[in-house]
Amino acid sequence: MTDDFAARAAYLRDQLNYHSYCYYVLGAPVITNAEYDRLYQELQQIEAEHPELITPDSPTQRAGSDLSEDFPKVRHPAPILSLGNAFSPEDLRAWEERNLKLLPAGAQLDYTLEPKLDGLTIVITYENGYLTQAATRGSGEVGDDVTANVRTIRSIPLKIPARPDGPPAPERLTVRGEVLFLKKDFEAVNRKQDELELPRYINARNTASGTLKQKDSRITAGRPLSCFIYGVVQVAGARWDKQWDILNALRDFGFPVAPGVGYYPTLSDIIQQLPTWESRKNQLEFEIDGVVIKVNDLRIAEELGFVGKDPRGAIAYKFPSEEMTTRLVGVTVNIGRTGKVTPTAQLEPVFLGGVTVVNASLHNYDQIARLDIRLGDMVIVKRSGEVIPYVIGPVTAMRDGSETPILPPETCPFCGTAIIQPEGMVDYFCPNPLCPERVFRSIEFFVSRGAMDIEGMGPQTVKTLIESGFIQDEADIFYLRREPLLELEGFADKKVDNLLASIEAAKQRPLTQFLASLGIDGVGGVAASLLADHFGSIDALQNAAAEQIDEIEGIGPVLAQNVVDWFADPHHRRVLDKMRAAGVNMQAERKAAASDKLAGLTFVLTGTLPTLSREQATELIETHGGKVAGSVSKKTSYVLMGDSPGSKADKARALGVPIIDEAGLRRLIGGETRAPEQPQLL
Ligand code: IVH
Repeated sequence: MTDDFAARAAYLRDQLNYHSYCYYVLGAPVITNAEYDRLYQELQQIEAEHPELITPDSPTQRAGSDLSEDFPKVRHPAPILSLGNAFSPEDLRAWEERNLKLLPAGAQLDYTLEPKLDGLTIVITYENGYLTQAATRGSGEVGDDVTANVRTIRSIPLKIPARPDGPPAPERLTVRGEVLFLKKDFEAVNRKQDELELPRYINARNTASGTLKQKDSRITAGRPLSCFIYGVVQVAGARWDKQWDILNALRDFGFPVAPGVGYYPTLSDIIQQLPTWESRKNQLEFEIDGVVIKVNDLRIAEELGFVGKDPRGAIAYKFPSEEMTTRLVGVTVNIGRTGKVTPTAQLEPVFLGGVTVVNASLHNYDQIARLDIRLGDMVIVKRSGEVIPYVIGPVTAMRDGSETPILPPETCPFCGTAIIQPEGMVDYFCPNPLCPERVFRSIEFFVSRGAMDIEGMGPQTVKTLIESGFIQDEADIFYLRREPLLELEGFADKKVDNLLASIEAAKQRPLTQFLASLGIDGVGGVAASLLADHFGSIDALQNAAAEQIDEIEGIGPVLAQNVVDWFADPHHRRVLDKMRAAGVNMQAERKAAASDKLAGLTFVLTGTLPTLSREQATELIETHGGKVAGSVSKKTSYVLMGDSPGSKADKARALGVPIIDEAGLRRLIGGETRAPEQPQLL
């Protein structure tokens, strides 16, 4: 019998070692991660039952490490363990059975259920309430000291209790949690990349890891990382007997605890919850790859001990994989408004994360060449969250020799112009500004929701209007007339009236919005607002030299030159002139001062306010005559504090600067004339 297990274990070891070589060394995985996990789990189970079969080359003996030479090392007060996996309710039942066998007869188990956050482990120590150290998991025994970077994460309290009514801090507390990007923040990081014309980040977890391990903590501070805390590694001066009590205590101290954590008296209750978690996975603000189930009674959990590095008292239930293998049957070439050529994979339909996928991103031709993806290949496709599915790479082991290389097109499929690759750039371009596809894409962008937001002008309508000769550029939109439109098929009275009304309304968009709609390289919402504030009109901007634009804080020389080049283009000038003649607004609004109630006062903002964004709060203060500064000093009149404030709140307290909340600010500006002492101080 043991011989069979020995043979099976040897087979699994070889398979796993081969597949990890394919994945890590060749960058060409043959099986999906889920398949790998299955094999790994089977080996782990055999080894647990037959420890004599464990060999030094078993992949289970590989101590994962993310140590880097750039950081001092920290020894964790207790080993930072990992978790075993379950893939089905049966696996969970078997886990409970195994545990019950190890406990005295009649033992009862209750559980907590927590989201399995897809980020990276962080271990944070507080001494007498103050954050003194933060480290990565590293080898599990020793981690990288990333204290300076962790201090930049707004949701991590620098001092506990973070709330005035919280319980007193224990003498020494080491907690464990997960650092990650909220989905919206990761999207914002990528939008910034777009604006700077840098490549998008693909994997949120890897980007979070890279951000946390930045040598320069200012870079980390500029990236909105988040964190959730879920456990206690060691504590002196307090004691908890239940995991559920720990989660509640953590929340009371002011730690961010993941929404959705729950207590359940039996495993059946837990199993009932699994479909709900799986179906709402995509609606969550953060990425999860499963849920974690923990034995609630910590004494029992300890008694249960470990299998290898995994505690028996907790297990991860992993959702079905969102990676699948399918055949790449074609590549579509798309041309964007800037002429950029993007290849899209056409796939044999595959069911992935709940939907049928037939298209996936191939990023660019450089990446295709690097990964050696060929037409006809079996490829691994991944879909995570709401993101567009993308091709991870080919399964080279499944080639039969009929696959053909994928090359960038020589000519534009829409206008026939020769495709170029500008020096030093990864991307290929159709250089013809009159290319019908480019014209279509740029008008489609101009009217879209994020730009001029002309309701009733979806891509299909734009196409019809171009094809029937009504519009050739963005400005023609403002010259559309009722009668000729009514001649078009499908353009009934009401539709035409609504369309013309939304076009009329679009003429009055604020300058910032108009500027961001022009499609100038790198000029998204942020740059547009800086330019609009500084120049106040299209005319002034059009006549500005690159040096003048470059002077604005937040605008670099490359962007400044893009703006100048855009306005120098005779075609763009013609289009602008036509729009101006049609009465499109090209002036900034004068910001009327609402009052001077805050005149002479300087505010510093910290944390997240309940209803106002940072920009809105700044605007509110400025329109009432106040000033907003970046850092706290003796000259600061008030610190305006929201949730999860940063170190500015501590500094304010140290300097005796009054702290107010959003309601306090509103009281300051409030209807009646009130003296500044009136807001309630926190
Ligand atoms: S408990 C002994 N709870 O998943 C305790 N881990 O696959 C082990 N993770 O290394 C960890 N969310 O980085 C725990 N609610 C959660 C978690 C969680 C995410 C991560 C953690 C761990 C990995 C194991």
